[in-house]
Amino acid sequence: MDVRKAFLEYFESKGHSRAASAPLVPDDATLLFNNAGMVPFKSIFTGEIPAPENPRVTSCQTCLRAGGKHNDLENVGHTARHHTFFEMLGNFSFGDYFKEEAIAYAWEFITEVLELPVEKLWVTVHESDDEAEEIWKKYVAADRIMRLGDKDNFWQMGDTGPCGPCSEIFFDQGAENFSGPEDYMGGEGDRFLEIWNLVFMQYERAKDGTLTPLPKPSIDTGMGLERVVAVKEGALSNYDTSLFMPIINKVAELTGKEYVYKSGASFRVIADHIRTAVFLLSQDVNFSNEGRGYVLRRILRRAVRHGYLLGLNEAFMYKLVDTLVEQMKEIYPYLETKAEAVKTQIELEEERFFKTIASGIELFNAELAHTKDVFSGEVAFKLYDTFGFPLDLTEDMLKEKGLKLDSETFERLMSEQRSRAKAAWKGSGDAAIEGDFKTLLEKFGKNSFSGYEKREGTSKVLALLSEDFKIVDELHSRHKGWVLLDNTPFYAESGGQIGDRGELAGFAKVVDTRKFFDLNLSEVETTALLKTGEAVTGIVDISRLEVEKHHSATHLLHAALYDVLGDHISQAGSSNDAARLRFDFSHPKAMSTEEIAAVEEQVNHQILRGIERVTKEMDIEEAKNSGAKAQFGEKYGDKVRVVSFGDASVELCGGTHVTNTSSIGTFIITKESGVSAGVRRIEAVCGNAAYNLFKEQRHTLNTVAEEVKNRDVVTGVTKLKEQVKTLREEVQDALNASKEELKAEEINGVAVYIEELKSGDVKTRIDELKNKHDSVAAMLFQVKGDKVIIAAGVKEANAKAGDWIKKIAPILGGGGGGRPDFAQAGGKDASKLPEAKAAALDFVKEALS
Ligand code: ALA
Repeated sequence: MDVRKAFLEYFESKGHSRAASAPLVPDDATLLFNNAGMVPFKSIFTGEIPAPENPRVTSCQTCLRAGGKHNDLENVGHTARHHTFFEMLGNFSFGDYFKEEAIAYAWEFITEVLELPVEKLWVTVHESDDEAEEIWKKYVAADRIMRLGDKDNFWQMGDTGPCGPCSEIFFDQGAENFSGPEDYMGGEGDRFLEIWNLVFMQYERAKDGTLTPLPKPSIDTGMGLERVVAVKEGALSNYDTSLFMPIINKVAELTGKEYVYKSGASFRVIADHIRTAVFLLSQDVNFSNEGRGYVLRRILRRAVRHGYLLGLNEAFMYKLVDTLVEQMKEIYPYLETKAEAVKTQIELEEERFFKTIASGIELFNAELAHTKDVFSGEVAFKLYDTFGFPLDLTEDMLKEKGLKLDSETFERLMSEQRSRAKAAWKGSGDAAIEGDFKTLLEKFGKNSFSGYEKREGTSKVLALLSEDFKIVDELHSRHKGWVLLDNTPFYAESGGQIGDRGELAGFAKVVDTRKFFDLNLSEVETTALLKTGEAVTGIVDISRLEVEKHHSATHLLHAALYDVLGDHISQAGSSNDAARLRFDFSHPKAMSTEEIAAVEEQVNHQILRGIERVTKEMDIEEAKNSGAKAQFGEKYGDKVRVVSFGDASVELCGGTHVTNTSSIGTFIITKESGVSAGVRRIEAVCGNAAYNLFKEQRHTLNTVAEEVKNRDVVTGVTKLKEQVKTLREEVQDALNASKEELKAEEINGVAVYIEELKSGDVKTRIDELKNKHDSVAAMLFQVKGDKVIIAAGVKEANAKAGDWIKKIAPILGGGGGGRPDFAQAGGKDASKLPEAKAAALDFVKEALS
C-alpha cells in the first residue's frame, strides 16, 4: 500500500488542498531545519498571514531533526524509530473544522483506509480535555482512552509560537514482541507505538510563557510516514520496511556483508544519512564548516565512519544515490535533476574525509588503550581539528565503548579556537552564529527593504550591534559594528547578489550588508558617534548599478542556456558583483565553442531589444503557472517576487535589477569551465566591466601593434612569423653545417683542407680544425650568391695564412689578408672557385715541401 498517496487522497476527498512539501531550510529564524509538518503554516496559525481560500490543507512534509532543539542524530541507527530525515503526513484546518472532525477523519483513515485492527488501537487526551475524551468515546472503549499531562499531551512548536493540547493515537505491537517492564500503555517501552498526533491549536505562547488564544482554533496533525509504513508492513523497526530496505540491501551489496537487525546499526546509520545528505544537497545546502552545511558534513562523516566499520575503505556513499533517487524521484522530481551533481559532491566530500579517517581512528584507538572511563578532551579536539572528526562522531564512537568524554576540556579548546578564528571571521547568516538576533526579531520583527527602485532613503536606527553581534546603545566614531535600520535601502547579500555598500550620510561608511535570519544588517565603520534611534540617510554606492547589470544578465544567461543546451540544466549557484557574474549549472560536458557563442549571442540580442523589466508580487502557484522556474525557499501561501524581461526571462527573485535590458550594455563570456563533474561554470562581464575588459584588450593590441611595428597587427604578426620561419631554417642550416664533413689531405704530416663550406661559419670551422689537429693548413670557401667568403688558418705548419689568402683572393676577384695563423678575405666571382681551389693547393704544396 502506498501510505503517502492514500493519506493525501483521503484528505483531498474531505475537501483539503494538497500543499507541496516546503524546503528543509525554513523561512523561520528560530529553526535550523523544518522539523514538523506545520512549520510552513506557522504564520497562518498565528494569524500573521491570512488563511488560504481553502482553509483545509494536507501535506507530506519532508522534515529534518539534526541539530537545534529537536536533535535525533545521536540516536539514529541505535533505535528502531529515530531518523534525521523523515516525512510527516498531516492535515490542517485553519479556523475551519476542529476536534470533532479531526478525530472522525483520523479514525476513519486509520481503521478504514489503513485497516489497522481496532483492538490494537489506544488513544490519549490532555488531562483537562473532557471534550476530546467525549468525542473519542464514540469510537473507542472508554478504557482505551488515557488522560495524560502537559509533558505528553500538550504540543508546541518551540519555546514560543502556536501550541495546544493534543491527542495521540497508539498502536499496540504486541506483548509477544515487547515484554519489558515499561511495556504498558503510557510506559516508556516500545510496545505501544505513537503513530499520530492531533494537535488542537488554540494558543500562542509568548516569550514569558503566557498563553494567548489564537484568533481561531485550528488543527495540526502529524503522522510519521516511516512508522505507519512499518506498522502496515508488520515490521518492528522503521528500517525493516520498503522505505529503507532498498538502500540497506545496496549497502549489503557494497560491503558483501549481510544485514542483521541486531548488529545492523551501521547499515541503518548509512541508510538514514544518505537520505538526509541527498535531500539537503538537492535543495542547495552545501558542505561547509558552519551552520546547516556543517550539520550536513557531520551527518555524511558519521555515515562514512560507519561504512569504515563495515570494511569500506574508499568513497561509497555516492554509490547509494541512484538507489534512493530511483525510489523517491516520482514524489520529489528535483532529486533526479540534481542527482549527478549531488553524487559528485558526496564523492568529493567522502574522499576528503577518507584521507584522514584511518589516521584519526588510529589516534582514537591509541588513546582508547589507556582510557579508563573518561576519554581525553585534548585528543577529541585534535580529532576534530586535524582529522575532521565532528564531536558527535567521536561521542558516537565512545558511546559504542560505553565511555564518556572530557567535554569540559574539549569545549575550552574549542572556545579558544573560536576566539582565535573570530578575527578572520565573517558572518554567513545562519544559525551557527551567536548573537542577539532573536531579541531583535522579537522586538522589531523583520525590517523592510526600500531599495528596489531607489538607492537612497531615510531610516531610523532601530538597533546597533557590536562587531560580534551584541546589542549596544551607541557606536563611537571610528568603530566597527552592525546597524539595523527600520526601512533600509541597502540590499542584503542573497540570491547570489552581493550586499550593498555605501554610507549613512555624516555617520558611517557601510562596508557590507547581510542577512542574519530575517534581519537585514549593514556592517559599518563609523565616522561620527551613532546612536540608537537616530534618523539617518542611507546612500547606496553607485556600484550597485553595475551589480544589477550582472544580475539581470544572469537571468538572461540562465534562459539562453536552457534554449541552447536543453532543459536538463539546472542552476547550481550564482554570484553577481560589480565586476563580474558567475553562473554554475548542471550539464554533463564542456560547452563547445559554438554553444558558448550561441549563448553569448542570444543574451546580447535580448539586451539590444531593450526589454522593460516587470516585477510582480504573486502567490507561488500563480508564479509557477506564469512559467517562472520553481525554486526551493518558497512555501505555501507565500507571496513571491517574479522578475520578468518580456519573453526573454521569467524568474522568482528577490534581488535588484536594471529597468531595461539595454542598460546592461554588453555581455561577454570570459570563461567556461568545470567546477566538478556534471557542473559547469560560466563567467561573464557586462556594463562597465565589459568596457574595462575592452580597454584592456585594446591596450594589449596597441602594444602588440607597436612591437610588431604595424598598425595592422595581423599583417605584422604574419610577417613576424615569416621571419621566425626563416631564422629557424638558418639555425637548422647551422646545425646541419656542424655535421658537414670536411676531407683532409695529408702533406708532410700536415692536415690540409681546401674545401667549400655549404653552410655554417668559416671562421668557426677553422677554429674547430685547429683544435682537432696538431698541425693544420686550411682554406675554406663559402659561396653566398655571387660572392665568396674565404678564410685561411694555419697551425704548426710552414705556411702563412695571410700570404696564402693574398695569393688566392685575387683569383676570385677580391682581396684581403691577415695574420700568419688566420686570414680572411672576400671575392666577387664565384665561378672561379675551382681555379682558386687548385691554386690554393699548389700554394700549400709548395710551402710544405
Ligand atoms: N506538529 C505536531 C507534531 O509534530 C503534529 O507532532
